[in-house]
Amino acid sequence: MSFRSFLLLILLLNYTQCANILAIFNAPSKSNIILGVKLAEGLIKRGHHVTMASPFVSDPVDGLTQLHLKTIYDYREKLYRANAITTMNPFNIVKIMIQYWTEVSDLFWEEPAIQKIIEEKPKFDVVITFSVFTDAISGLAYHLGVPSIFFSPVGSNNLVNYYVANPNMVYVPNMMFPATSNTFLARLYTVTANIGMHLMAEFFITPYQRDLLKKYLPDCPSLEDLQKNVSLMLMNSHFSIESPRPHVPNAIQIGGFHLDQTKELPEDIKNFLDSAKQGAILFSMGTNVNVAIFGEEKLKAIFKVLGELAPMRVLFKSEMEHKNAPDNVMVKKWLPQADILAHPNMRAFISHGGLGGNTESVYHGVPMVGIPFYGDQRMNIQVAKSAGYAVGLDYEHLTEDLFRSKINEILENPRYGENAKKRSALIKGQLIKPMDNAAFWIEHIIKYGSGSHLRNDGMDLSWYQLYMVDIYLFYTVFLCLISFITYKTMKVSYRFLRRICSKNPVKQKKS
Ligand SMILES: *[C@@H]1O[C@H](CO)[C@@H](O)[C@H](O)[C@H]1NC(C)=O
Repeated sequence: MSFRSFLLLILLLNYTQCANILAIFNAPSKSNIILGVKLAEGLIKRGHHVTMASPFVSDPVDGLTQLHLKTIYDYREKLYRANAITTMNPFNIVKIMIQYWTEVSDLFWEEPAIQKIIEEKPKFDVVITFSVFTDAISGLAYHLGVPSIFFSPVGSNNLVNYYVANPNMVYVPNMMFPATSNTFLARLYTVTANIGMHLMAEFFITPYQRDLLKKYLPDCPSLEDLQKNVSLMLMNSHFSIESPRPHVPNAIQIGGFHLDQTKELPEDIKNFLDSAKQGAILFSMGTNVNVAIFGEEKLKAIFKVLGELAPMRVLFKSEMEHKNAPDNVMVKKWLPQADILAHPNMRAFISHGGLGGNTESVYHGVPMVGIPFYGDQRMNIQVAKSAGYAVGLDYEHLTEDLFRSKINEILENPRYGENAKKRSALIKGQLIKPMDNAAFWIEHIIKYGSGSHLRNDGMDLSWYQLYMVDIYLFYTVFLCLISFITYKTMKVSYRFLRRICSKNPVKQKKS
């Protein structure tokens, strides 16, 4: 083969391999966006071009076009500053969720960058979205005439399973209202919570999404048809960080995909950790919970206990200034969490239990003290506790003594560290690297134009058909009928026999 034809071949190969991918990460959650950017980076490394629409702009990356959804960012900042998203009451959660996603949807469709995509229909090969509670977005893939891939930042659960008819098993805890056992009552609780969340979506969120679809993409098929046309669901999960559960062939687990490469730490943090010979702790409530939520008294208790740990060192993420922080504590507004957890001197991670933090903790084998607030955080901490690499703590009951005893438990009992290391080995020891797996499946969908060969027939069944409610009902009615007929027949035969017997005087005498 001549050099020129070799070059031509390379060009051709590149031509078929380089795809133009549109990723829409509209949820105003920084941790989601971090995942989105990492996914984009992984795809770019494989020669693709990614256009990403999101409320947060990351540092520029070659091959990544960023579309800033600024109005969603502003809305999120307003809520974040007001600490409005933190509440434990289920009715408040539901009310706030509905209002939140309605607002975010409105803002999304009015964004100039999205309007431009609708008008100009730029050429893409596939659209990746995280569209839970903002389902109308699935219309964009149809509008552009390309397959759509759903990205779930929290693994499979009752809110996303229907995209690919992945079964909702009763032993998979409800994400927001997790049960702790498999007793009848616990299962009843799980199913009730699942139904409750579905009814909420069905009555308060989906109708609005239908209206949005009609308003902004009037030529689209119905929302239901769009939802049934998702080619693939990528899930940021793995059995090392959640309870094992079934997955249909187009539900692909890629948990850990964003952790393959650790970046160099900023100079000051690196020095701080390198010289922490007695070990270091990271305190971070993630990107959505404000440290201010603890209030003055609890923060004082927290800092007192952390101060006592010296010469151990503590990295503390906080949006506030803490003038009286002890000398062994370094306070920062933002910290590269995953890269910090990768540092060999890390001994513990005090976390709110977001899935991102959980995954990073498991990946790098650092045990946790979990202080969950809302969403899936309680479930994540529960899973981590039962896997033996975490202790939990209720933030409402946080006192100096309790906080001290939990930290000491994690630092002094080697069991937690050992379990964290074991989980780390599980997530790192996969046959295929999670990012390679993600890229393979995205390319698979691009290559074959859709995912119809992966689609299971459950996609065309109603919930009562998929979960065999109609069959069980049929059998219940059938068995009732049979029992009834048997009973009636026996009764009639008995009467008949008695009548015969009473006509037989010999027998009567004998008895
Ligand atoms: C389903 O997706 C395919 C591409 O994967 C597309 O060609 C088709 O128009 C879509 N149909 C509906 C109803 O969304």
